[in-house]
Amino acid sequence: MARPTFYITTPIYYPSDRLHIGHAYTTVAADAMARFKRMMGYDVWFLTGSDEHGQKIERAARARGLSPKAYVDEIVAGFKELWARLDISYNDFIRTTEARHTQVVAAIFTRLYEQGDIYKATYEGWYCTPCETFWAEARLAHGNCPDCGRPVELVREESYFFRLARYADRLLEHIARHPDFIQPEARRNEVVSFIKMGLEDLCVSRTTFDWGIQVPFDPRHVVYVWIDALTNYISALGYGTPNDELFRKFWPADIHLVGKDIIRFHCIIWPILLMALDIELPKRVVGHGWLLLESGKMSKSKGNVVDPLVLVGKYGVDAIRYYLLRELPPGADGYYSEENLVAKINTDLANDLGNLLSRLTAMITRYQDGTVEAAGPHEGLDEELIDLAVGTPGEMAALMDAFDLPGALGAIWRLVNRANKYIEETAPWALARDGRRNRLATVLYNLAEAYRFVTVMLTPFMPALPPRVWEQLGLLDRPDLTTWGALQWGRLPPGTRIKRGAPLFPRIEAVK
Ligand code: ME8
Ligand code: MG
Repeated sequence: MARPTFYITTPIYYPSDRLHIGHAYTTVAADAMARFKRMMGYDVWFLTGSDEHGQKIERAARARGLSPKAYVDEIVAGFKELWARLDISYNDFIRTTEARHTQVVAAIFTRLYEQGDIYKATYEGWYCTPCETFWAEARLAHGNCPDCGRPVELVREESYFFRLARYADRLLEHIARHPDFIQPEARRNEVVSFIKMGLEDLCVSRTTFDWGIQVPFDPRHVVYVWIDALTNYISALGYGTPNDELFRKFWPADIHLVGKDIIRFHCIIWPILLMALDIELPKRVVGHGWLLLESGKMSKSKGNVVDPLVLVGKYGVDAIRYYLLRELPPGADGYYSEENLVAKINTDLANDLGNLLSRLTAMITRYQDGTVEAAGPHEGLDEELIDLAVGTPGEMAALMDAFDLPGALGAIWRLVNRANKYIEETAPWALARDGRRNRLATVLYNLAEAYRFVTVMLTPFMPALPPRVWEQLGLLDRPDLTTWGALQWGRLPPGTRIKRGAPLFPRIEAVK
């Protein structure tokens, strides 16, 4: 039987500059979801990429004395290096300068023009280059861009326009009928009221710069930003080409994960573009909040960015992934600070998670010569731990499906903390002292088995961690016991040899 498919995407980031931890957040979150679905047995396609056209990039390249292509090549190599360091398991990386993308955009643009969804007219308005956004005069703030406060330029040019309003009613109906389409709910309400205010036709071509995909039937024009960018989600699957197996297999997307800055583009322009092309709409667009600094929102154009490569070098990939995924509440904003990051590493990772493994491997080594022994009859305390362990995977899966990653990690940590408390309650050292070997074997078995559950569930979040744990738990050569399907209590075989190792997460003394 064919496995169910799951297609998840990140935004394709602008290679106007290096990426910061805000971008890393989105990509790590999508990766955790992709890995979770793979672990659940889905046939997953995980797409990321780079959005390489536009005036901002043309100007950034010129400032460095490079051609736009040479400039983006260098920056995109940096994206890929960052994703490798963060253990991002993408299946494909689409660059909008690739022929497989540009030819699909050109064909779509032509088709929309031929069927009357796109028309040519003269445009006059105020343009903010850093934000790549046009503003009506009335929306300006003291003559500047209302979003970023910087000066805007008066632009008067002939452009092509996309008739968004034509599809507004169909889109509203789709949103009403598919309550899961836009998440979280606050984002959906925001999109709905925006549509109800009335959609203006969208400018979709420019003549004032060249760094873009040429309009095939009017080469003075290049396709302007959103039609180019959004189309990546289907061009990467071969849509509209003879090699469209991936499109037929994986479309519609299960999740487009985006920041709240681009939710409207994904929930208005993108579905309308797809409707105009007679393509099914994506199942879910999930909009997350901002990762903020005390000094405000991080942005490449503000220059107050935190480099994730530096953090990975300093603290390790698992710690950074854990922190990002635990810190940003679903749909809301969260604050980044290095003090906070270090505090989380010390409490959650070094104390709660790392010490639990050290203690249980130390006790099995000391009291049972390094061998896990069979558990005897259960007592009430054992049942409490076992019930929690057995219930946690289902709870975690439900939270993952709601894209509540901090919630899912929280559920796993309840089990970690319950196991730590179980050590205090059962006091294995006293059992050893009193010669209660059978009771001791039961307690140590339960701890090792709970730790196996914890580690399997953590795999999508911290992919570098499990092999280190399996080595200590003596399960490196038992991949059959480290899958989601192996989360059945009691599968850990008595006789397993424990191998004590270095602490998983050494304490960090102070922020350097
Ligand atoms: O918008 N906190 O690219 P972009 C959380 N090319 N997430 C953040 C963030 C922060 N402080 N800063 C950035 C574009 N992000 C277009 C997308 S898609 C068809 C085209 C993340 O480089 C977040 O996911 O400006 C946001 O939506 C994205 O980076 C914007 O990246
Ligand atoms: Mg942006």
